[in-house]
Amino acid sequence: MNLNKVIAERFADALTAIGVDPEPYLGLVRPSQDPKFGDFQANFAMPLGKRLGKAPRDVAADIIAHFTYDDLLETPEIAGPGFINLRVKTSILAELAQAEAVDERLGVEKVAKPRKIVLDYSAPNVAKPLHVGHIRSTMIGNTLSRILRFLGHNVISDNHLGDWGTQFGMIFYGYRNFLDRQAYETSPIDELARLYRLTRQLVDYFAAKKSLGELSEQIEVARNALDVQKKVCADAKAAGAAKDVLKKANKELDRLIKALESATEKYDEAKGKVDEVEKNPMLVELAKGRDDIGQAVLQETSKLHHGDPENRALWRQIIPQCQKEVDKIYSRLDVKFDVALGESFYNDRLGPLVERLKERGIARETEGAIGIFLPGRDVPMLIQKSDAGYLYATTDLATLEYRRDTYHPDAILYVVDFRQSNHFEQLFEAAKFLGMENVELCHVKFGTVLGDDGKPFRTRIGDAVGLKSLLDEAESRAYAVVEANNASRSPEDRFSEDEMHETARRIGIGALVYADLSQNRDSDYVFSFDKMLAMNGNTATYMQYAYARARSIFAKGDVDVEALRREFAERKRNLTLEQPEERALAFELVEFQSALENVVRDYRPNFLTAYLYELANKYSSFFEKCPVLKASDDDVRANRLFLCDLTARTIAQGLTLLGIQTVERM
Ligand code: ARG
Repeated sequence: MNLNKVIAERFADALTAIGVDPEPYLGLVRPSQDPKFGDFQANFAMPLGKRLGKAPRDVAADIIAHFTYDDLLETPEIAGPGFINLRVKTSILAELAQAEAVDERLGVEKVAKPRKIVLDYSAPNVAKPLHVGHIRSTMIGNTLSRILRFLGHNVISDNHLGDWGTQFGMIFYGYRNFLDRQAYETSPIDELARLYRLTRQLVDYFAAKKSLGELSEQIEVARNALDVQKKVCADAKAAGAAKDVLKKANKELDRLIKALESATEKYDEAKGKVDEVEKNPMLVELAKGRDDIGQAVLQETSKLHHGDPENRALWRQIIPQCQKEVDKIYSRLDVKFDVALGESFYNDRLGPLVERLKERGIARETEGAIGIFLPGRDVPMLIQKSDAGYLYATTDLATLEYRRDTYHPDAILYVVDFRQSNHFEQLFEAAKFLGMENVELCHVKFGTVLGDDGKPFRTRIGDAVGLKSLLDEAESRAYAVVEANNASRSPEDRFSEDEMHETARRIGIGALVYADLSQNRDSDYVFSFDKMLAMNGNTATYMQYAYARARSIFAKGDVDVEALRREFAERKRNLTLEQPEERALAFELVEFQSALENVVRDYRPNFLTAYLYELANKYSSFFEKCPVLKASDDDVRANRLFLCDLTARTIAQGLTLLGIQTVERM
């Protein structure tokens, strides 16, 4: 049950009864920040008082007179200027918690109207090794998929693999020119990654080299403008110009300083790329006579797209290797998809799509290319280049059509980096031309993973950090912890080597995943192994520990937990909540559904991690104040054991929904 929602619905009736449209006010019923003010607070009497020209406290009293609460809540209190403080009856909390005794869904109801939702996530470009950023799309998408399904929605998860883009041109070029056949035979994916990187480096080298002249000119221009402005500022000061004139001049000065900095940065970046090659004799040798490599790479991709038999054959040979590699990562992360229709799947639909859009007058020619002109935008959304090649947007339009016709979805969610915002804004506008006005299209965007220096997390040579190496390190750090714990156990209790590895895997990967999901997804965050593996704080490790601790009580007390659950389910025992810590814990347990519904409102998994953290904290206070195995009498002991069990089950279910596994011992 979602108490907050039930209370809001009842307020809706009360507001309607006093002649007010409840819609704008229901968001003002919220959990209280401080238990002093009860469990929930309704803060709409103040704005309503203003609107109705009445004292807010009178409005509050009026609303309460029409409010049905007696079966759920204590008598509401009006506090301060007109806050309505609400406290759930403790007996109700006990009843709700007890109803979860043998309920696998832990009291979480399924939605009345399931929606059909296509969920597009992970979608790496498979020709390159996965990097740290891929954990974001993969794990945010994975948890949304699990939570939406748990709430009863009909989800189709689709891994829109990048298996058709320009990276293949790089690999093909590399394969034909730089292949180390033996390396390819022993470890194809490493060799393909090397070929990709090498080709890319050479393409970047020539592009950077070509741009140096222009970039240094830009520096010159910026420097001159700055000198002029410096003089303007000095003259104005000397002439005793008015304050606002000086301010304006200085503002312009700041702008020009920044412009010079940015021009210098761009130059340095290009120069870095040039030096990297020119300071390496092997690369210099490879670069010789390849000035046209950029063009050649594009041609390789184009040949693939247009059905060149050799490139198609090479593609068919390479793809399974790439697929195997990403599948290894998915299996470590315990991630699955219903379908994986990559970009290549849509290749044959692109031409006909463009033709149809042209026929219907939705797309038209623009400077030799084809584009869709969207209302209120100066630049068209290009769907075919002047060289007849198609674009990322074309594939996404074809994908939209396919999903529309295959699934008839209510919503399509794209879990993709915020840097693609512009692409999705245009895509969603264009979708209206495809008759999708009534489909919810949402870009579930996320920020960047940063290194200690506050810049995108990169390796020393400047590549984004590989996901595989991160998973390896997370596991090996966790292993060290598990090993140390193990050494302090008595020999008969020790883990086997297999248990150690499995436990370390769950802890290590769990830490990484949780650290990601506990962020507000819009924000960037700084990656830190130490923080994510901390035993305290909002981490998976803390949560897994809370779970293991709760479980261990049953082993220690030799309690038959199934029997205990049955006793409560059959009402042979009745849960009572005497201590404030017991009540607070039960309240949190009952809030599980609300936490899940908060996640799906705007697709934010951090509402679930925040909930679990709160729950683990409430459990910790409870555990400190309320002896369980040593409780004074049998009933109190059973009550508390029941709360421990329900906490463990809720944490386990919550972690499962986040895609994180629990451990019985750490
Ligand atoms: N492959 C793309 C990338 O790596 C992400 C694809 C996201 N999904 C989509 N339908 N555009 O940037």
